[in-house]
Amino acid sequence: MKAVVIHSHGGPDALVLEDVPDPMPGRGEALVAIKAASVNAADWKVRSGNLPVPIAFPHILGRDFSGVVEVAAPGSDLQPGTEVYAVCPPGQEGGYAEKIAIDARYLARKPKNLSHVEAASIGLAALTALVSLEDTLDLKRSEKILIQGGAGGVAGIAIQLAHHLGAEVVTTARAGNHAYVRSLGADHVIDYTQEDPSTLLGDCDAAFDTVGGACVAQCFAALKPGGRAAFIAGGAQAPESPRDDVVALRPAVGRSRALMDRVTAYIEAGVIRVPEITIMALSEAARAHELSEAKHVRGKLVFEIGR
Ligand SMILES: NC(=O)c1ccc[n+]([C@@H]2O[C@H](COP(=O)([O-])OP(=O)(O)OC[C@H]3O[C@@H](n4cnc5c(N)ncnc54)[C@H](OP(=O)(O)O)[C@@H]3O)[C@@H](O)[C@H]2O)c1
Repeated sequence: MKAVVIHSHGGPDALVLEDVPDPMPGRGEALVAIKAASVNAADWKVRSGNLPVPIAFPHILGRDFSGVVEVAAPGSDLQPGTEVYAVCPPGQEGGYAEKIAIDARYLARKPKNLSHVEAASIGLAALTALVSLEDTLDLKRSEKILIQGGAGGVAGIAIQLAHHLGAEVVTTARAGNHAYVRSLGADHVIDYTQEDPSTLLGDCDAAFDTVGGACVAQCFAALKPGGRAAFIAGGAQAPESPRDDVVALRPAVGRSRALMDRVTAYIEAGVIRVPEITIMALSEAARAHELSEAKHVRGKLVFEIGR
């Protein structure tokens, strides 16, 4: 099969499109023909060696994908021909390829109302937003939340979910993205290139940081006493809170069919729409990583396999 492989850590030019042996499903695994896979920040972090995920070379990147079951796992109801989508566990990955062998417990039925490209765009981003807002921050109706990085993949879903939960949503974005984040459900938008959110806010019940750097301190400053903040951009631990009247949380984003089915329910109910998508070919993987690493992609980059 064709796959984008890295043979060592390095820059975007470490990504090589080549022929590799088809994967063989092991115990409990299904073989899936991948139709589309998205680009996540984790991909370039693993590629460059900046994410402490144990991998063996040659390695195929790609945390989430959508495709069709070719060989079912023994005992699985996901039979050949079933359209599925999934988020791979860190260290396994493998979405930048024509096929993947994956533990069938990670596979979920693809949302009925989405194409493969759309389903692939939403996997890890939606899973992360769901776990962060519902399971970690326990966001409630009428609460006010600051979501940092509104135009990005995870934040774009988080805005929609927070809006659906009945929260008042403040987000940060460059001016050119304000109409986009408002269309997702943001009530207020701060142009972070002009204004510092921490000087404007101090009354938030919750904050969700998807950016890191200066946004971390801004999240703490935006909270009122008793507030809680969740962080996903800066490693496996939450940053230490500089205040003793607010809490810092690090969402534990697991992988399972049950979690994916929660995402699917929101998609099929029309609560979550897919983000803006830029479709690319696997042969453009290096360019895709350059764009993602520059941190100004709006929505998601998705590889259409076979394009
Ligand atoms: N399980 C996990 O722990 C987990 C899962 C998923 C993602 N993550 C992490 O979460 C982070 C976000 O992932 P993602 O895929 O959502 O990223 P992304 O889509 O690449 O985010 C890009 C967006 O960030 C915005 N941005 C850049 N600098 C900003 C700033 N200073 N203030 C506000 N917005 C800014 C850009 O909008 P503008 O052009 O408007 O600046 C752009 O649209 C990454 O670090 C990723 O590794 C963790």
